[in-house]
Amino acid sequence: MSEKVLNVGLVGYKFMGKAHSNAYRKVNMFFNPGMQIVMKALCGRDANWVGEAAQKFGWEGIETSWEKLVSRDDINMVDITAPSNYHKEIGIAAAENGKHVFCEKPLALNLKDAREMLAAVQKNNVRHQIGFNYRFVPAVCLAKKMIDSGKLGKIFHMRALYLQDWIIDPEFPLVWRLDKTVAGSGSLGDLGAHCVDAARYLVGDFDKVIGLNKTFVKERPLAERMTGISGKASKDAPRGEVRVDDATLFLAEFKNGALGSFEATRFAAGHKNAMSFEINGEKGSIKFEFERMNELQYYSADDEEGLCGFRTIQATEGVHPYVEAWWPAGHVLGYEHTFVHEIYEFVKSIATDTPTSPDFNDGVKCSQVLEAVDLSIAERQWVTVDTL
Ligand SMILES: NC(=O)c1ccc[n+]([C@@H]2O[C@H](COP(=O)([O-])OP(=O)(O)OC[C@H]3O[C@@H](n4cnc5c(N)ncnc54)[C@H](O)[C@@H]3O)[C@@H](O)[C@H]2O)c1
Repeated sequence: MSEKVLNVGLVGYKFMGKAHSNAYRKVNMFFNPGMQIVMKALCGRDANWVGEAAQKFGWEGIETSWEKLVSRDDINMVDITAPSNYHKEIGIAAAENGKHVFCEKPLALNLKDAREMLAAVQKNNVRHQIGFNYRFVPAVCLAKKMIDSGKLGKIFHMRALYLQDWIIDPEFPLVWRLDKTVAGSGSLGDLGAHCVDAARYLVGDFDKVIGLNKTFVKERPLAERMTGISGKASKDAPRGEVRVDDATLFLAEFKNGALGSFEATRFAAGHKNAMSFEINGEKGSIKFEFERMNELQYYSADDEEGLCGFRTIQATEGVHPYVEAWWPAGHVLGYEHTFVHEIYEFVKSIATDTPTSPDFNDGVKCSQVLEAVDLSIAERQWVTVDTL
């Protein structure tokens, strides 16, 4: 029996565009999602650059207009890895053209736009998923399984950090991630969003939050050429105002009574992509650090007296989600595998016409928490998330 075909159109070909392209190439090689992926068209603004990327990544063709891409009859699914200010417009247009939509995080620039995107995919009855890829790290899946099966008992604390250091230099240019009109938010929406999603996934929904943020460098040289994380500015380039947060910290109370503390910063010298969390429950604790992503630390209060202590579980055995499809035990996975896993889940959900997660509902819930944090900072008081 011949397998159904899924023709994909991808917007963006830099950081995430490359990570997603790699995933489309690998899914059918390692997994059986029930559909054959065809990398139909890659979209960017410059024909030469997008053409070069398409050839390198293995796309059949290119488009230089996302409007054209989303209206093509031969495309069934649109994947959005353009900067965040494009997510809403492209996502809604794709849904209205009957395409299944995968969108990078954050879902949109703000909660209102995120809700409009959710309404559009629901109204047009298309499948949707958001790129919270840390859910697809096997060690994080193990954390979820342990919590759901009661291994930690009642949860008291979640402590989550996302630390980077790439903009400490005040001469680093004002790339789009630092431009509020393009990114919507700084460290909170970019990095904190992953921690919020991990917290919702592992602990549950947020009740209320209170935060604090800072923009350490208030003006930067305007970039001549850029991606979201790299750029060049001439020596005498004019300066622009930075209107996003360089660092945001917040406290939270979850609906189940657990307490949370969160920190997202691009000013933590020495930390490159240090996403980490610790969860403490009545029967034990778990700790995860993305830069050691194959491991989960586990402390069980039930261990024999005198032998208690954190143990390191290598989540590289076939019993862990996704691992069996790859390599023998101990042959570790990396960052790029998280994208293969998330795309595999999305293609499977299209093939079986069943919902998947994290979807646009999760994108909206995350935006709701982020907006509540921003409001709490502006009003200097606790904000109940569900009031937004
Ligand atoms: N899941 C994650 O961990 C993760 C990591 C990085 C970025 N992201 C998200 O992915 C998105 C993209 O980030 P990035 O780092 O890949 O950005 P990037 O700057 O590296 O790439 C953006 C791409 O979008 C293209 N683009 C810009 N405007 C366009 C337009 N009008 N039409 C078509 N293409 C256009 C650019 O040519 C480029 O290829 C952002 O929303 C970001 O928040 C998620």
